[in-house]
This record gives sequence, C-alpha cells and structure tokens, in this order.
Amino acid sequence: MSTNRGRRTLAILKPDAVAARKVGRILAHLEEEGFRILAARFLRLSEVQAREFYAVHAGKPFYEPLTRFMTSGPVLVVALEREDAVDQLRRVIGATDPKEAEPGTIRALYAESKERNAIHAADSDETAQFEIRFFFSEKDLAAGAYS
Ligand code: CMP
Repeated sequence: MSTNRGRRTLAILKPDAVAARKVGRILAHLEEEGFRILAARFLRLSEVQAREFYAVHAGKPFYEPLTRFMTSGPVLVVALEREDAVDQLRRVIGATDPKEAEPGTIRALYAESKERNAIHAADSDETAQFEIRFFFSEKDLAAGAYS
C-alpha cells in the first residue's frame, strides 16, 4: 500500500445526496476531475460503524447529529485514485458549509447545509488510509485497478 500513498482517497456520498438522486452526477463530476473509481459500495452504516468512522469528532457538539444523519439512509462509499488525491478531492468538493463553498464545487452544487453536505472526503493521507481500509480490502481495490 505504501506505493499508493498520496494517490488514493475515500469519498462517501451521504444520505442526502443518495436520497436526492445525485449519485450519477457526483460520480461524473469526480471522473471529469480526473479521479478513477477503484471500488464503490452502497451500504447503510450501523451506529457502531458511524461512531468509529467519525471517532476523531467524538465529543464535538455536532458528533451525535452527524452520526445520526450518516446512519439515516444508504450511502455510497467510493475509493478514488489520482495524483495528489486527498488535496484534489477536498478542492473539488469545496468547504464543509455549502454557503462557503466555491461555485462549481460539489457541495456548492448539491449540498443542502453544513450537516447535510452531500459528500465526505478524507482530510489527510493518514485518514485516507484508515478510511479506505475501513470499507475495502486490498482485493476490492485491486479489482478496480487498471494497469
Ligand atoms: P465530513 O467531511 O463528513 O466530516 C465531518 C462532518 O461533520 C462534516 O463533513 C459536516 O457534515 C459535519 N458537521 C456538522 N457540523 C459541523 C461543524 N460545525 N464543523 C465541522 N463539521 C460539521
């Protein structure tokens, strides 16, 4: 995995985006921005999974509503690849609050609010490794890899 450091990241299309049928548009946006989809899976996070996934935010005022929201409906988890993946994905999705997101970013286009903000992205290479591993095995990732 170490050779892929910096080239991989994780996105989650959140329950609001799935319910609003924005999945196709968001995936197209990511592909147009140069990301390749290595692996993707629809699932509904359990409360235990959501709490563990967002453990870095435990104790913050938004932690309980965040985990409640993330378990409220199906999500699409997506492992993505491109050069400088973590920073580039954060650029493409825009600021947490869609009111502050640059025009044309995924959150500016599709998010409803800071809480219901359409998409999650890993915020560092370390987090990306953890988050990809949280959902995918090396076999899942290898299946999506082009040579
Ligand atoms: P996400 O990228 O999934 O990571 C943490 C999430 O917490 C974030 O997107 C927001 O949707 C949510 N959140 C809600 N309130 C806040 C807040 N005040 N600051 C940061 N994140 C928040």
